[in-house]
Parts: sequence; C-alpha cells; structure tokens
Amino acid sequence: MSGEPQAPEERPVGGTEYSWCKAVPTGTGTTVLALLLSKPPEISSIQTALHNLQNSHPILRSKLHFNTTTRTFSYLIPPTPHLQIQPFDLSSTARILQSLHTPNDNDDDDDDHHHYSITPFHLILEHEINQNTWRDPDQPSYADEDVFFASLYTLSEAQWALTLRLHTSACDRTAAVSLLKELLTLVVNGGEGEETEFGDKGEVNLGIEELIPAGKANKPFWARGVDMLGYSLNSLRTATLDFRDVESPRNTQVVTLQMSSDDTQKLLAGCKSREIKLCAVLAAAGLIAAYTSKHLPDHQREKYAVVTLTDCRSILDPALCSHHLGFYHSAITNTHDIYAEENLWELAKRCYMSFTNAKNSNKHFTDMSDLNFLMVKAIENPGLTPSSSLRTAVISVFEDPVIDDSDGIHQQLGLEDYVGCASVHGVGPSIGIFDTIRNGGLRCACVYPSPLHSREQMQELIDHMRRILVDACNQLESES
Ligand SMILES: *[C@@H]1O[C@H](CO)[C@@H](O)[C@H](O)[C@H]1NC(C)=O
Repeated sequence: MSGEPQAPEERPVGGTEYSWCKAVPTGTGTTVLALLLSKPPEISSIQTALHNLQNSHPILRSKLHFNTTTRTFSYLIPPTPHLQIQPFDLSSTARILQSLHTPNDNDDDDDDHHHYSITPFHLILEHEINQNTWRDPDQPSYADEDVFFASLYTLSEAQWALTLRLHTSACDRTAAVSLLKELLTLVVNGGEGEETEFGDKGEVNLGIEELIPAGKANKPFWARGVDMLGYSLNSLRTATLDFRDVESPRNTQVVTLQMSSDDTQKLLAGCKSREIKLCAVLAAAGLIAAYTSKHLPDHQREKYAVVTLTDCRSILDPALCSHHLGFYHSAITNTHDIYAEENLWELAKRCYMSFTNAKNSNKHFTDMSDLNFLMVKAIENPGLTPSSSLRTAVISVFEDPVIDDSDGIHQQLGLEDYVGCASVHGVGPSIGIFDTIRNGGLRCACVYPSPLHSREQMQELIDHMRRILVDACNQLESES
C-alpha cells in the first residue's frame, strides 16, 4: 500500500448514534469539557497531545458524513489527525464575554434575593455548549463536520479556559472523562506519551447495538407495540416544571450544585446503609424540589418521569472499558407519582427499586431502539410534548457518578477547575445532572433549556435540592 494516498475509512452509524445525529443539530448532545487553567498553557504541546488522542482513538478524528443517496450517516475517518486549537486572545475573549451578558442576566443581578456570580469561566462554558456546528442534513447549510473541536480562551493575564467540544454520538460522559485523564497525562509529559496504552488501539469501535449480548435485546412483537404506546403516552405526557418562555429560541444554561466533602460523605453513607445509589437520592431530591416549585394544593399528586443513564460498557459482548470512546449509554425511563410531604429516603428507595427492576429485566437493552425511535419522533413532531417544549422527563441522572481524586496532577498543570456536561435544549429533560465526586465532595453541573426555564427558576430549584440533601444528611446524623 506504500505510496498510495490512503482513503478515509468509513463506518456507518448505529441506531443510537443515528438518533444523536438527529438530536445534536436541534440542541441536545453537544458535549463540552471546560478546563480552567492558572498557568500559561503551551498551545503546541496541547495540540500534540490532542493529535496523539486522535491517533489512539480514530473516532476523534472522524467527520460525520451524510450520504444524500442512501440518506444514511457514517463516520469518515481520515488516516491522520488534523485538529487545530482555535485560540482566543484577551481582547477577542473579552468581546465574547461582553456579548454573553444578556439584559436578562443584568435584571437577575438587580434582584434582591438572588446574586449570581457568573464567572467568565462559566460564561465560556455556556458559550461553548451552545456552539452548534452540526447541521441537520435537510438544512441547506449542511456539510460534513468534524466530531471534535478545541478552543483556548484567554480570560485574563492569569487565567485560561481550554475547551473540548464533541458530538455526543462519538463521546459519552464516560468517554469524556477518559479523554480528560488521557489528555492530562499527555500534557504532563509535554504532549508525548505511549500512544495506545489505553482503549481503542487505533480502531473504531462498533455501535452499541452490535455489542448487545445475544438474546438480551429480543422482545416479542406484541410487547413492542404495548411498550411504545406506554412510552408515548406516559413519558411524553408526564408533568413538567413550569415553563417561563415556550416561544423564544432555546439554548442551554448551567447551574452548579455543590456539597462539602463532609456532607457528601454522610450522604454516601446514607445511600450505602439503604443499599441504594447516589443517582436515586439525587433524582428524589430533584422530584421533591420540582413538586414544591409548583405550589400545588396538598392533596394533588403529580406524575414525573426520571431518566437514568446507564453505562453499558462492562456488560457488552465483548465488554468495553472506559477508554473505549463512543456512545455506550442506555436510558431507562421511570415514572413516579409525587405527593406533598414526600420523605427523601423513601422516595429515593422507590426511584432506585423501579430503576433496578427495569434493569434486571434488561430494559436498557430491550427498549433501546424504541426510545431512540421516540426521541427522533419527538424531534420531528415537537407537538407530541407539552407546549412543544420537547421535554421527555423532568430530570436525568447517571447511574454512577464520576469519581476524581487526582488532585496532584491538577496542581502540576495549574488546573483550577473543570466542568463536563452536554447541551439539552433540543429534546431532553428539564434538568440534566452531571455529577462528580471530586476529592470527596459532590459537584454537579445541572443543565437546562433556557429561556424555557429561567436562571432564577433553576437556581432556586437547585438550591432547594441542595437543602433537601443536606437536611437528609443531618437527619441521618441525629438518628445515629
Ligand atoms: C452513497 O452511497 C452509495 C451506496 O453505498 C455509494 O455508491 C455512493 O458513492 C455514496 N455517495 C457518497 C457521496 O458518499
């Protein structure tokens, strides 16, 4: 083959990847990792590191291609990396930040009850999450597009934001965490490193549908119809949070939920003693806060949908590890009737039981194609959802949090902070929780569609969630 120019490899997208190809142009599934740096980053060594990552994980150097004849998407994978970091100097970053201060945010600042300190780093995170370069193939501006972008913003003389932006079909949350770890390791070594100690070994992995263990996805034809009907009637017609503005174009905003490591450890101990996972108690606190925010008469119950995203890598055939990049999550939707005066731990137990029951009957495999189908249907017919809001659930959580204890390497790099999350203003939940336990403390990026929901509304709701969680820890302490 020597001497011949190598043609790009091509890999058709699978079913779940296809639904992301449809969802991302509408505003759901732009994944962003934003790193706040306090040491001047060496752009050339970061670029080398990113090229190394593109070599070891070919999906990262792919372009999403749409064949107009067959009307199918595929990843076109060129033989060599080509990513260029887009740099923004002090003045161009300042111009962007200036443009992000909407009159709305200024109104919020004047509000006596709520003083939000939205840092420049946070604004850049929101700016990146709303950079949507991916178009629907039916739009005239459609062109094949990379799945991976990187930018470096100069926030001040002493602060920089490095952002990685990825198409979620190529990079789920687990993949983003691995990417961050691999990147930091490479940067510490000046951009160089053993190329593929991890993961993909220069290959593109198959789509999740092709890795479902034999027999696990089969479902009798009649059950399909019944479930589909159940899904469309139940999850698309469940109660929602109050909407603030259903007309204006939407973008994604982020509110942070943070707990001290003391409180977090108590919360985790409370989960452990009840044999439930953190995701259930986060979902329960979210449901109680959502119900409370509606100020309903005491006797009125509401039915809410919760989506739990579960990473299937370890249960696929063959099993994958976290360094295998791609999208390997599956969603399980459960609905819950919520009453006034819910007890957090009891509700959390109910959430966890219904999730594990669904998982034990393999719903994360059997319902995957139905949920993908429903997601695409909702995108095509927003009127299926209340007020065309495209909300399919009130809250989404991940089954397991990201755990990060790597303080040392962070100090070495001047990594002050980082956030990873994805956009939700297309089809999705009202609140998407991206939880991390960093050096023992809970840190959640909570994403929501704006102005469907306002920053003030979400800040209040997340503050309430936090109080519910902290109160539950302290109640636990007084019990023992
Ligand atoms: C579209 O797919 C057809 C059938 O596989 C192929 O012959 C054709 O070359 C493709 N076109 C493009 C532009 O990729």
